[in-house]
Amino acid sequence: MYRWLHGMPGVVVVGLQWGDEGKGKIVDSIAGNFEAVVRFQGGSNAGHTVVVGGQKRVFHLMPSGVLQGKLGVVGNGVVVDPKVLVEELNSLEEAGVRPRLLLSDKAHVTTELHKMQDEAEELDRGGMALGTTRRGIGPTYADKAARIGIRIIDLLHPDSLREKLKGLYSAKDHILRGRGEPPAFESLYGDLVRYGEILRPYVGRAEYTLNRMLSDGSRVLFEGAQGSLLDIDHGTYPYSTSSNTVAAAAAIGSGVPASAISEVIGVAKAYTTRVGGGPFPTEDTGEAGETLRRIGGEYGATTGRPRRCGWFDAVAGRYSVMLNGANYAMIMKLDVLGELNRVKIATAYRIDGATTDEFPSTPEELGGAAPVYEEFDGWRGTDKAVWERAKEEGISALPKSLRNYVGRLEEALGIPVRGLSYGPSREELVYLD
Ligand code: GDP
Ligand code: IMO
Ligand code: MG
Repeated sequence: MYRWLHGMPGVVVVGLQWGDEGKGKIVDSIAGNFEAVVRFQGGSNAGHTVVVGGQKRVFHLMPSGVLQGKLGVVGNGVVVDPKVLVEELNSLEEAGVRPRLLLSDKAHVTTELHKMQDEAEELDRGGMALGTTRRGIGPTYADKAARIGIRIIDLLHPDSLREKLKGLYSAKDHILRGRGEPPAFESLYGDLVRYGEILRPYVGRAEYTLNRMLSDGSRVLFEGAQGSLLDIDHGTYPYSTSSNTVAAAAAIGSGVPASAISEVIGVAKAYTTRVGGGPFPTEDTGEAGETLRRIGGEYGATTGRPRRCGWFDAVAGRYSVMLNGANYAMIMKLDVLGELNRVKIATAYRIDGATTDEFPSTPEELGGAAPVYEEFDGWRGTDKAVWERAKEEGISALPKSLRNYVGRLEEALGIPVRGLSYGPSREELVYLD
């Protein structure tokens, strides 16, 4: 039925670090070249920022590409908090954006019970808390795997929804007992039915639409959430999220074949941030980290928590490039790193007296890794005019120290850098050939 050709125009944008790399900005910047933009995993734990004309907007569930008027698809692999989605739709409409949305009928639903459970489980972990966003992500994916989840399609069938929700309440009873007051059954049921009515016009069989689009030659952009190091299999488990975040998940999470993905764009900050618990070998808890947090505004787009800051980790970066098959990288926030006089890249780890360039499998081993750094001069004083000139003249217009740094990143990652970002706005981005 579908003609799968070489070089199918399915492009995936993924984060190469621990999230918040600037994926929203890149998706917004390139969305004009695509017909649809698809979220394929994660949920409202994501916060993707787009700044256009001085206006900042943070997307949690809607794909960032809807600002460019593209069809936004929320795929089956996403866990959807209908309250957040409806709020996002309303806020876009208030701002005069008429979002085009297709919501997979197979996506799983995050309810108030899941958010309560996330909160309760974090409290139970005490000092070992994961630092989740408390958006109910882990419990929703757990119920999906346990096959007791509620899906978007269920919201459109009130009778069977009632039975499924009863099942969910009884499954949660022992988990939530004594943990605050869960919403009364009829109240939550009524809310879900109401959300179903609001969302009904958008619900559909996203896999059929996307496969038709691809086979008709339309280009589709897949918008990853979180980062590769938060992947449930390949990330810093258990200090990870609960979905697969790497590019391969785009196929499963949207119902297109793996062969539909022709290109993968890896997004990375010029330094590293992490929000939540877990090992972070290149973290800088001193002055440099503080400067990055202050100048970079490193506070969570979803939770407002301060992000932990540190140096670029090329061991982790190479690992992410490998897992994703990233074809090229976009390096973000070079303006922020440029505020420091000297900058560093970790190119290897020392673990138990041995040097390695492989990313360890356990948090214990990663926690004991001492980064091996290379140091570089910074590029203070590179003003916006210099960056503007680089748009015309290419990288040669940029200071030598900056070119050295980017050159070392390319070498360490093993892929070309195709974009340099120097500010939050849509235009503050230099594409390199
Ligand atoms: P995402 O989750 O990967 O989409 O990233 P977030 O939106 O959570 O975090 C990235 C933050 O950095 C946002 O506040 C962006 O507006 C901002 N940002 C993106 N690129 C740049 C850049 O090159 N320079 C500066 N200063 N800020 C940037
Ligand atoms: P975007 O898409 C940064 C982190 C949380 C926590 C861990 C588990 O904006 O890059 P969860 O709520 O998913 O169970 O939390 O994952 N985390 C993120 N960190 N950016 C994100 O999304 C994140 N989504 C989850 O802080 O450490
Ligand atoms: Mg974010």
